[in-house]
Amino acid sequence: AEDGYDLWLRYGQPGGSAVSIPHTSPTLAAAAAELRRGLPRTTRPIVLERATAPEVSALGLKLGALGDEGYAVRQVRLGGRAVTLVTGNSDVAILYGAFALIRHARTGGNVDTATLTSAPRIKLRMLDHWDNLDGSVERGYAGQSLWDWWTLPDFRDPRYVDYARANASIGINGTVLNNVNAKPDSLTAPYIAKAAALADIFRPYGIKVYLSARFSAPIEIGGLKTADPLDPQVAAWWKAKADEIYRAIPDFGGFLVKANSEGQPGPRDYHRSHADGANMMAAAVAPHGGIVMWRAFVYAETNAEDRAKQAYSEFKPLDGTFANNVILQVKNGAIDFQPREPFHPLFGAMPKTPLMMEFQITKEYLGFATHLAYLAPMFKETLDADTYERGPGSTVARVIDGSIEGHKLTGIAGVANIGRDRDWSGSTFNQANWYAFGRLAWDPSLPSEGIAREWAEQTLGTDPKVVDTSVAMMQGSREAVVDYMTPLGLAHQMSTSGHYGPAPWIADLKRPEWNPVYYNQADARGIGFDRTATGSDAVAQYAPPVAKIFADPKLTPERDLLWFHHVAWDRKMASGRTLWAEMIAHYDRGIDYVTGMRTRWDGLKPLVDAERWQKTATYLAIQQREARWWRDASLAYWMSLNHLPLPAGEAAPE
Ligand code: GCU
Repeated sequence: AEDGYDLWLRYGQPGGSAVSIPHTSPTLAAAAAELRRGLPRTTRPIVLERATAPEVSALGLKLGALGDEGYAVRQVRLGGRAVTLVTGNSDVAILYGAFALIRHARTGGNVDTATLTSAPRIKLRMLDHWDNLDGSVERGYAGQSLWDWWTLPDFRDPRYVDYARANASIGINGTVLNNVNAKPDSLTAPYIAKAAALADIFRPYGIKVYLSARFSAPIEIGGLKTADPLDPQVAAWWKAKADEIYRAIPDFGGFLVKANSEGQPGPRDYHRSHADGANMMAAAVAPHGGIVMWRAFVYAETNAEDRAKQAYSEFKPLDGTFANNVILQVKNGAIDFQPREPFHPLFGAMPKTPLMMEFQITKEYLGFATHLAYLAPMFKETLDADTYERGPGSTVARVIDGSIEGHKLTGIAGVANIGRDRDWSGSTFNQANWYAFGRLAWDPSLPSEGIAREWAEQTLGTDPKVVDTSVAMMQGSREAVVDYMTPLGLAHQMSTSGHYGPAPWIADLKRPEWNPVYYNQADARGIGFDRTATGSDAVAQYAPPVAKIFADPKLTPERDLLWFHHVAWDRKMASGRTLWAEMIAHYDRGIDYVTGMRTRWDGLKPLVDAERWQKTATYLAIQQREARWWRDASLAYWMSLNHLPLPAGEAAPE
């Protein structure tokens, strides 16, 4: 059945190409198996061999700077035969080359003439699983956790291999197995053994295992009285814990830590800095080559400062104080994975500290698994944003790839949208977000439309009508979500408990910054959050050329207007409409886009298998209904404040 299990690796009948591995290894064996399954029959044999092997180096190929993970595919003569050579400086690089060759073939390329060269621009390309040890997944919409903690380490579900294959095919090389809201148990011996079993399965695919660590674990499972990072006993506990993990997982990647955020313990509990905490843990893994990914997602109940400012206020002063195996993990925006956020002001503000990106692939605030929203344009919007760290051209992508300041430790993480559903991600089109994340982690300069196209060709087939239609649906889909949920820079208008559905009126939650009214600041006069000097002055956290734009409502792009400004309902917009009329137009446009996706998808009915077609069609119907719900609920609330009439011809909210 076409249940989506095969993701973008829908190979069909094996072509049976001749693949040889003169020097084999588990990784090269995996690469060869993949090529035999995934390629159409080729005329030339395929040889997998390292660039340093004498017979390859003798060819004098110009391979450029491949690094450890870059690959090259070349048509050469080896041992008197014309062959397709897949090469690189490591076995994993060759595996990436094999997958690239399969992708090339399955998107219309010819293997017998293929010449491919590519190297990743970012070193750590990670999935963060928010998977709990009880099998649930925080913000997961694709079923229970993939990890069956109950039967691990004994039962090695073959699905773990397919997980590794899918990730390797797009270049992902790290996985954090457990939720950032971490249970201390994940660091106990039984769970280390379970993680080790997964690490063994993933290793041939170049994927390292990492764990989220709870900062207070020395108390909870270590029996200490404190988790104070400057207490020698605490440091010794973490060192011993790291040693224990590395005995089981020699290539363990390191820790991800959420500290002093949303109730999690951390160094601030002991009046120590985040750097004190991070450096103490970094010292424990350093002898083994491990790293600490320390999250910058902090905001405190006791802090009255604009939530959007708190991470910068906390971390910017610490620039230059982190150990060199610490990388700070920063969300794309300053609030929390909204359909649109301006780039996080920490990007470009901490030149002495490696910063890694944290994107969310799971659609916590974008309609869960049901709404179709292709996220590559959103990822790109942040990656392409200019921080002006060192003048124009200092894009976020160049901050995180290390090229601006010459950082060697670089990374990008995506909060996974993967669960135990047959189709892994809850819908066919959600698979594209996993795929796109991996492709952009490898090369942030890839165009989102090109990624959509290659994904659709591999996932839905190469019929041009199917591909063109799917790509056209995908490309505008995230903007449609912005339009019908939070147009013109609004944010966090989702119902607070589940983050699903509209609730701009909620005002009674105990923490002010959890209430949608905190973000919309709507009143009789206008709407939007004043983050200029007359308000919270969050704009001052950006480099002057950026701050200048965001501080001025006339210069601020309209898409970010209400993020930075409280604007009168009757303000004139670029279209000539009032803000009020413009907002309504956006809600309507969002709904119309979804209606258009339904029509387009209907036209593909004869061309897509019934199972995947039907599920997508049904989800689009839900999305259309809920887009309307968003518009109507939002308008009804705004009208209760502004008492403005609807423009002529507008349907009254139901
Ligand atoms: C969001 C999300 C939480 C998550 C948190 C985080 O607030 O709703 O579920 O724990 O982000 O990233 O730490």
